[in-house]
Amino acid sequence: MSRTRTPVAVLVSGRGSNMAALIEAARAPDYPAEIVLVVSNRPDAGALATAAAHGIATAVVDHKAFGSKAAFEAAVADRIEASGAEFICLAGFMRVLSGGFVDRFAGRILNIHPSLLPSFKGLDTHERALAEGVRIHGCTVHIVSAELDAGPIVMQAAVSVVADDTPDTLAARVLACEHRIYPAALAALACGAARLVDGKVRLTADGDPAEPLVWPIPR
Ligand code: GRF
Repeated sequence: MSRTRTPVAVLVSGRGSNMAALIEAARAPDYPAEIVLVVSNRPDAGALATAAAHGIATAVVDHKAFGSKAAFEAAVADRIEASGAEFICLAGFMRVLSGGFVDRFAGRILNIHPSLLPSFKGLDTHERALAEGVRIHGCTVHIVSAELDAGPIVMQAAVSVVADDTPDTLAARVLACEHRIYPAALAALACGAARLVDGKVRLTADGDPAEPLVWPIPR
């Protein structure tokens, strides 16, 4: 049975390495999603050039050009809807989205966060993980809800914290995991292998031949 690919918009503010991982994964013919648009709120985001080099449509919606957060978000939402995107991936997008925006795309916005949520919500996660002396750190892909870094968890990956870790060395190992689980989580949602049930994400079809996965979920 042929599957249609789910159109996805990626929102960025910076270098866009997670965006690049999503673009790379979506080059596989059997990947169930397609990146149709990259939107940056910063005109100088490195991600824009990377996306354009892959032939992906880009848009700059500069938050500083709008008189209110609502007007900025309406412009972003309009661009996304005009692209036909059904899912939105936040990939280093440094604006907190309002409840109104989240409701407009309820259950269809994903975020990658550099910690094992619900630990270390917010910024400077690697510094804070080291300061707490945790032995295990990692990253989380979650569905975005109105509360920051609190929506239903789709996938996580963990790394050990080692004795000589600095925020930079830890960030680099976590980032490699981010690049692995973000494409896998998007694929699982796009093909229906992951879905929201009673406010939590249920992963189905793992080993079920009736509903084969089209993208492997890391264990
Ligand atoms: C990543 O660490 C991601 O987890 C966080 O912001 C960073 C973005 O990096 N939300 P990049 O732009 O994807 O390289």
